[in-house]
Amino acid sequence: MSHRRLSAVALEVALGASQVIRGADLEIPPGGRLALLGANGSGKTTLLRTLAGSVKPNRGRVLVDGATLAFDRAGLRAHRQVVQLVAQNPDDQLFAADVYRDVSFGPMNLGLSETEVRQRVAEALAVLSIEDLAERPIHELSYGQRKRVAIAGALAMKPCIMLLDEPTAGLDPLGVDEMVGALESLLRVQTTVVISTHEVDFALWWADTLAVLVDGKIRHGPPTELLSDADLVAAARLRQPLVLQAAAALGLKTGSVTDVSGLVAAVQSAGSVPEGVA
Ligand SMILES: Nc1ncnc2c1ncn2[C@@H]1O[C@H](COP(=O)(O)OP(=O)(O)OP(=O)(O)O)[C@@H](O)[C@H]1O
Ligand SMILES: [Mg+2]
Repeated sequence: MSHRRLSAVALEVALGASQVIRGADLEIPPGGRLALLGANGSGKTTLLRTLAGSVKPNRGRVLVDGATLAFDRAGLRAHRQVVQLVAQNPDDQLFAADVYRDVSFGPMNLGLSETEVRQRVAEALAVLSIEDLAERPIHELSYGQRKRVAIAGALAMKPCIMLLDEPTAGLDPLGVDEMVGALESLLRVQTTVVISTHEVDFALWWADTLAVLVDGKIRHGPPTELLSDADLVAAARLRQPLVLQAAAALGLKTGSVTDVSGLVAAVQSAGSVPEGVA
C-alpha cells in the first residue's frame, strides 16, 4: 500500500435543496491520521462520500496524486482500489450471510484468484483481530463486531486510504479502545486513516491533522491550534477538549498538551500550579 495523496479542490455539493459543501478544499497527508469534526448536519458524511466517489460534486474536483477523479465507470472502479469508505452504520454496508462471504465480496469482484481472495480475507481479519469470526453469521454479531467486519471488508480491497464515518460512535468505552487499536493496525499497514467524529478529546490526541466543517467550508490544520480557537469551536458547535480547558485554567501553554499525560507533564515542567488556581 503505497502512499497516495487524496485532496479536494473548491468542492461544492448540493443534496436536494441544501447546498451542503460550499467551496471546500482539503489535503489529506499520506500515511497520516486526519479527524473530521463538525456539527450534526454540517456535511461530514457527504464530504466523505464525495471523497470516496459515491457522490458527484456539483463543482470542484476530487484528486488522487493530483489527477482528477473521473466520475465514470472506469474512474470510479480505479478510485475504489485506492479509497474505501466505511459507513457509520455497519448494517448499511454488510449484506452477506456470514463474515467470510462479506469480506471476500470486494476482492472477488476484482477478479482475483481464489487463493488471493482467501489471503486477503485472512489478512484483513487478522488486522482487525477477528479471525475467530470468519464463519459466523453476520446477524449473530454485536454492533462492535459488525463495525469491525465492515472495516475488514474495506481493508480487503487493500486501499491506500480508508475513510471511516464515526468509527467510535455507539461503542462502549472498551469497544472504543478496541476500535482505536484497529485504527492503529490500519496505520501500521501504511494506510492513511481519515475518520469523522464528534469526540473532540479523542480527535485532539489521536489526529495529526484536523479538518473542521463550518458553513460548508473546511478549516484544516494542527489539532491543538484549531481546537484552541474559541471562535472556530463555537462556530462548529464543538467544545474545547477538557485537557485544553484544564491547561488554560492552570495558566499553562497548550502547545504540546493533547492528552492527560501531556497535561501532567506540562504541570510538572511549570514547577507549580500558579496562585489563584483552585
Ligand atoms: N439524500 C439527501 N437529500 C437531501 N439532503 C440530504 C441528503 N443527505 C443529506 N442531506 C442533508 O445534507 C446535510 C449534511 O448531511 P450529512 O449527513 O453529510 O451531515 P453530517 O455532518 O454527517 O451529520 P451527522 O453528524 O448527523 O452525521 C444535512 O442538512 C442533511 O439533511
Ligand atoms: Mg454523518
